[in-house]
Amino acid sequence: MPHITFMPCGLAGEVAEGTTLLEAADQLDLLGVAGLEIPDGCTRQCECCTCKVRIVSGWDHLSAISDDENVLLADNGAADDDRLSCQATIHGDVVVWFDGT
Ligand code: FES
Repeated sequence: MPHITFMPCGLAGEVAEGTTLLEAADQLDLLGVAGLEIPDGCTRQCECCTCKVRIVSGWDHLSAISDDENVLLADNGAADDDRLSCQATIHGDVVVWFDGT
């Protein structure tokens, strides 16, 4: 199973392939362990960009970025290594940066 690490808190674990980054945060209890909640302002419908996270490594282990996600990230001034955690599914080891800011 793919291994995901959330930085800078260091929370890590394995999740089933195809799990979204946001689902992984839920499954590993990012909120309970690190006090960090990734906002899902549009209930994970690829409409708000509040769930944006930075990919530290493993970009190629995520699902391809859709046109809708790409437009939403660009419209919100996202960096080149940002993904929407509600849209990107995990297909290999990844390291994600989310510090709540
Ligand atoms: S929760 Fe709105 S785009 Fe991900």
